[in-house]
Amino acid sequence: MKKILFLLIGILISSSIIGQTHPDWIKKSVFYQIYPSSFQDNDANGIGDLKGIESRLDYIQSLGINAVWLNPVFKSAFQDGGYDVIDFYQVDPRFGTNTDLVELVNQIHKRGMHLVLDLVAGHSSNQNEWFKQSMQADTNLRYSNYYIWAPYKPNDLSEQEASRWVEANAPRGKYYIKNFYDIQPALNFGYAKPNPKHPWEQPVDAPGPQAVKNELKNIITFWLEKGVDGFRVDLAASLIKNDPDKSATIALWKELNGWFDKKFPNGVLIAEWFNPKQSIEGGFDIDFLQPGHLFSPFQRGQKVPAKVYFDKAGEGELIKWYNDYKDQYESTLNKGYISLPTGNHDSPRIADSSRNDVNQLKVAMTFLLTLPGVPFIYYGDEIGMKYIPGSPDVEGSRTRSGTRTPMQWDDSKNAGFTLAETKKIYIPQDPDPNRPTVAKEDKDPNSQLNYVRKLLTLRASSTALGNDGEWKFISDPAKPYPMIYMRSKGSERYLILINPSGSKVKAELSSINTKKAIYVFGTSEKCVYKIGKGTDMITLPAVSAAIYKIE
Ligand code: NOJ
Repeated sequence: MKKILFLLIGILISSSIIGQTHPDWIKKSVFYQIYPSSFQDNDANGIGDLKGIESRLDYIQSLGINAVWLNPVFKSAFQDGGYDVIDFYQVDPRFGTNTDLVELVNQIHKRGMHLVLDLVAGHSSNQNEWFKQSMQADTNLRYSNYYIWAPYKPNDLSEQEASRWVEANAPRGKYYIKNFYDIQPALNFGYAKPNPKHPWEQPVDAPGPQAVKNELKNIITFWLEKGVDGFRVDLAASLIKNDPDKSATIALWKELNGWFDKKFPNGVLIAEWFNPKQSIEGGFDIDFLQPGHLFSPFQRGQKVPAKVYFDKAGEGELIKWYNDYKDQYESTLNKGYISLPTGNHDSPRIADSSRNDVNQLKVAMTFLLTLPGVPFIYYGDEIGMKYIPGSPDVEGSRTRSGTRTPMQWDDSKNAGFTLAETKKIYIPQDPDPNRPTVAKEDKDPNSQLNYVRKLLTLRASSTALGNDGEWKFISDPAKPYPMIYMRSKGSERYLILINPSGSKVKAELSSINTKKAIYVFGTSEKCVYKIGKGTDMITLPAVSAAIYKIE
């Protein structure tokens, strides 16, 4: 009897530790992020579309990918690349129709894959009918309180707060609050602590914020009922205003995620919050770590420390990344998934003018695709497409256009992206005659593309290397080269060794308890692993990565 009681208590404790539920499929998921305007054009107008994406599903699947995230595809004014939505219930004609989207979902499901869309939860376009109605003097209209209107701008605002006030001189009010660009008025989810002297600061339970919350549920339901598997939620941390510790925003998401999990137990919600500690507490399944911000090596061209970790100079630091990563990993363990993506539509790519030899890219990919949590590959990173500096500012992209250049498929006109005239292409492609392409790399067994495929095959074959495998840092983060960590599950153990520097490096490892170290994958068979009594010795050639199975 006692035994049964202990067992029951054990089960109860472990299920409350595991706590949050996730659909089974994300445990083995590997995502591919597609910027729809830049992936594949089917109707020869120079801009990518849904039919184009559909025509490339076999390729996507050939990578070992089983889930796709599309940047926004809804009707938009395209002054921020689709993140300025005019109609949340309608696919933009440039991408196709709602029927085309359903067809794409069906094709994706047929392959056992999943599709996630982008939900711009915090704002709309200023051309959205909701906003146009809320501008009217009459405050009793359906959408009157969907936005935040104020008659004057208080002079005690912080610089950051003040930057969100847009002067509109509308019948409804002189100012509205925006979220990002001026054309993106913030939706009104209310204020965490409304200031009674500021009547525009409505509490979260006021009718306006409640109606906006319900609208969000309607949008989610509309698309999930069409077969879509979930959303990546844009600026998820931004919804409730004056919420410095994010407690009200976390509470709002807890409620929304609770509702979502019940209604769509097979769906996922992914936060763009860049702070999994908070977003996972809010019930999200996955959150990103900034490819640049938390791991400064990838932040070239922005505010970066001069010394980059993933650089042949071998002068970068690891300690800050390590501390941040470890903290996020440990805080979210068994609750939700973290993801350090290979890149995204807002950040520079891994490959650029100085980090572009194939070994460097393979080393970076070995690192990114052997971390715990859910991998996200940004389209084109698998072939080493480069960030193209100086790309023209298109639809509010600013310097982000360098990372959104169209996919390079083959050596035909426009690299197989479109049959349109080259001058009509959405963003000019990499002008390098030797630019990487899928066709070239497909044929080359040593290409980055085939390396990524093999890495993902290895990852899929092992629970230790998979999304739920444990992660433990083995090398001393204060001695950055090489970086060594272990992935394990039960008795299965792998050591990952990463040396982005241009010099051969050695490391001593103690307490691994190694009987056998088998080289299973990497950039060079020249890595040496010597098992010693208590201490193992590792030697890695310049710019190399290796994965050892440890027994
Ligand atoms: C984050 C998105 O990733 C970015 O592309 C967009 O400009 C802003 N949110 C505003 O929606």
